[in-house]
Amino acid sequence: MRQIDGHTRLCGLIGNPVEHTMSPVIHNTLAEKEGRNLVYVPFHVEHGQLGRAVEGAYALNILGLNVTVPYKEEVTGCLKAVDGMAAQIGAVNTLVRTDGGYKGYNTDMMGLYRAMCSEGIRLEGEEIILLGAGGAARAVAFLCASKQAAKVYLLNRTPEKAWQVAEEVNRASGRECIVPMRTRDHGKIPADRKYLAIQATSVGLYPHVEDVVIGDVGFYQKIHTGFDLIYRPSETKFMSLVRAEGGQAFHGLKMLLYQGVIAYELWNGITVPEEDALAVYGRMKGEMGI
Ligand code: ATR
Repeated sequence: MRQIDGHTRLCGLIGNPVEHTMSPVIHNTLAEKEGRNLVYVPFHVEHGQLGRAVEGAYALNILGLNVTVPYKEEVTGCLKAVDGMAAQIGAVNTLVRTDGGYKGYNTDMMGLYRAMCSEGIRLEGEEIILLGAGGAARAVAFLCASKQAAKVYLLNRTPEKAWQVAEEVNRASGRECIVPMRTRDHGKIPADRKYLAIQATSVGLYPHVEDVVIGDVGFYQKIHTGFDLIYRPSETKFMSLVRAEGGQAFHGLKMLLYQGVIAYELWNGITVPEEDALAVYGRMKGEMGI
């Protein structure tokens, strides 16, 4: 048990609900490893109380906060400043204490990128298939464009949303990198090469573990690597279909790890050694029972 004393700094998570979060495991393990006098706790914030919560946290000298559902967009209105990538995405998951207020960042996307790098997955120059056009997929589309992906086929059940995201990201990046499609037209994606596929819909999330956006085996023959943003379950139907056709597949738990690691780095002005990050990952897998 770590000693809590007059110098202990506090960080935490605001959201609703927050009871099932794994973030305390990430941050308290890092603090323990580093011997840093910092404690991380969840704060359940009632609807209509977000502004007061952020203001109160600042007044209480809270070092940093993570923000989760349903406040990632709304919180941008409670901040002193917002980082460029987070402003583009329109969602903030990390608040960093600065003079006069918090600055907002989006470490979800930085975390996804670091998770991919750690698995040897590249975005630069790649042709990618992205499933979904909701909040998460839109952020991934911005990430792919900013990391110079060659082309992203953006597939969504509701075509209007795919076209809207493509238009927005292509305009912001100044090139026609995102190609919108209806999901059911996936057969039109050229089969003369293999792709990285990123699963960014909510389909397949526990308890609906048998659900998948595309069930057609032919689709999975075009995929060399599948990355599912979902981590519960740790083997989604999407992942098992990728593996069945010879591709490698990853779940989203490392993205969760690195979004936390990057937030911790921003709060404390340090770089977390990879061995500490991997020790945290071991504990997270233990929590998941995998
Ligand atoms: P998030 O913030 O997690 O991205 P969201 O913004 O609600 O959540 O987006 C959910 C995504 O999952 C969307 O791409 C949605 O497709 P539609 O735009 O057509 O709704 C996709 N999705 C959810 N349920 C789906 C289903 N049963 N079949 C196909 N796509 C689904």
